[in-house]
Amino acid sequence: MLVNDTESVVAAVREGLLPAHIYNDAEVYRDERERVFSRAWMFLAHESEIPQLGDYVVRRVLDDSFIVSRDASGEVHAMFNMCLHRGMQVCRAEEGNASHFRCPYHGWSYRNDGRIAGLPFHKEAYGGNEGFVRSGARLLPAPRLDVYNGLIFISLDPDAMPLRDFLGDFTFYLDYYTKQSAGGVELRGPQRWRIQANWKIGAENFAGDMYHTPQTHTSVVEIGLFREPKAEKRKDGNTYWAGRGGGTTYKLPPGTFEERMRYVGYPDQMIERMTGQWSQQQIDVIGRDGFMVSAASVFPNLSFVHNWPRVADSDDVLPFISLRLWQPVNEHETEVLSWFMVDKEAPEQFKRLSYKAYLMCFGSSGMFEQDDVENWVSLTSTAAGSMARRLLLNGRMGKRRDGSDLVAPLPPSEFAGPGEARVGYGEHNQRQLLAEWADLMELPPLRVEPVALGLDSPVAEVPQETP
Ligand code: FES
Ligand SMILES: [Fe+2]
Repeated sequence: MLVNDTESVVAAVREGLLPAHIYNDAEVYRDERERVFSRAWMFLAHESEIPQLGDYVVRRVLDDSFIVSRDASGEVHAMFNMCLHRGMQVCRAEEGNASHFRCPYHGWSYRNDGRIAGLPFHKEAYGGNEGFVRSGARLLPAPRLDVYNGLIFISLDPDAMPLRDFLGDFTFYLDYYTKQSAGGVELRGPQRWRIQANWKIGAENFAGDMYHTPQTHTSVVEIGLFREPKAEKRKDGNTYWAGRGGGTTYKLPPGTFEERMRYVGYPDQMIERMTGQWSQQQIDVIGRDGFMVSAASVFPNLSFVHNWPRVADSDDVLPFISLRLWQPVNEHETEVLSWFMVDKEAPEQFKRLSYKAYLMCFGSSGMFEQDDVENWVSLTSTAAGSMARRLLLNGRMGKRRDGSDLVAPLPPSEFAGPGEARVGYGEHNQRQLLAEWADLMELPPLRVEPVALGLDSPVAEVPQETP
């Protein structure tokens, strides 16, 4: 079987047979740019990163730089960071507060909602509006922008389905990470670093790889970072998939919702606020069914972690939440952006210790991070060769050879969450993530009409310039 053309790659992936070269192939990456990242909803920033009027951050989607700003009326924008004149990058800082951005090249300036504010020598150089109509000209907005629980997503496809529909029932699980109180969450970071690994590997790992924990992370367990003495504990948890995301859970010891939240280290006042935020179903997943969300991924490249290590030499554990983006640089390199995330209303002491817990485990120097990445870098470099083009990796864990499932999904009486959840090891989630990938890889490249600026007749513009 040829595994080099898109059609056979996609067919094999749907069988859980993974052509090894998809983890390092320039052509596959070109197709991903034109088909996957041109259509999916992608995370850019969180609203709490730009709390004040005029705040902005600059973020990338592949090679496209966007200014994510909050304008004078509080509205959030994502604007393509390229000057309308000759294409210089308008904003070169990573974050800040500004009412205007001025292009360093010829000095065109833009309001923080993207509208042109100043065009040097408009009259002398263009004959005023006779040559270039200023009104209505603005930095190119991201074709679509939408927000869920403060998470700002954009899509480069003007016809993309609404964000809510894209996320689907995964929003049920997203709330555990991003809505623990009415105040929402706040973010710290991101830490950014690059790894010589394909972007899909991390996203797949966070989506459902409970199987690697006992092997890859043995040392973290051995040094007693976790209260559970054995990494194999992971197989008692379940992996769930709903909408366009999925993740892993831990099985908690018997107890009520409150007792189980306390067991993972949440103080009572936080638990009370969560009770006020979450639906009965969301509470039941923890209180009735005994599952606590851990790592998760949303297609294509956004991941979450929730864990509760020991932060001191005692039995006390402290939960932390982190959010990360696997930002592709090319087929064999990924920029990781990793944020610490915490309930805005959490006590200061909790925030401090939770941040410490996060830094011990994840982030550029986190112990888990180091363990994981060594595997992913090695995998990526091995996937570049010609032998990798002859190999279909077996990504079928959880399925019999005849295609039937080894373990049935948990019935609603045992798992209150939407989607499908299965106890134990399996690669259902990794397959789901790649099935989403396959669906988009099959489509033709997205074609869009370019936008021309400055040629429209002036819309009853402010004092018309008279010759
Ligand atoms: S490129 Fe920006 S002003 Fe000319
Ligand atoms: Fe890991």
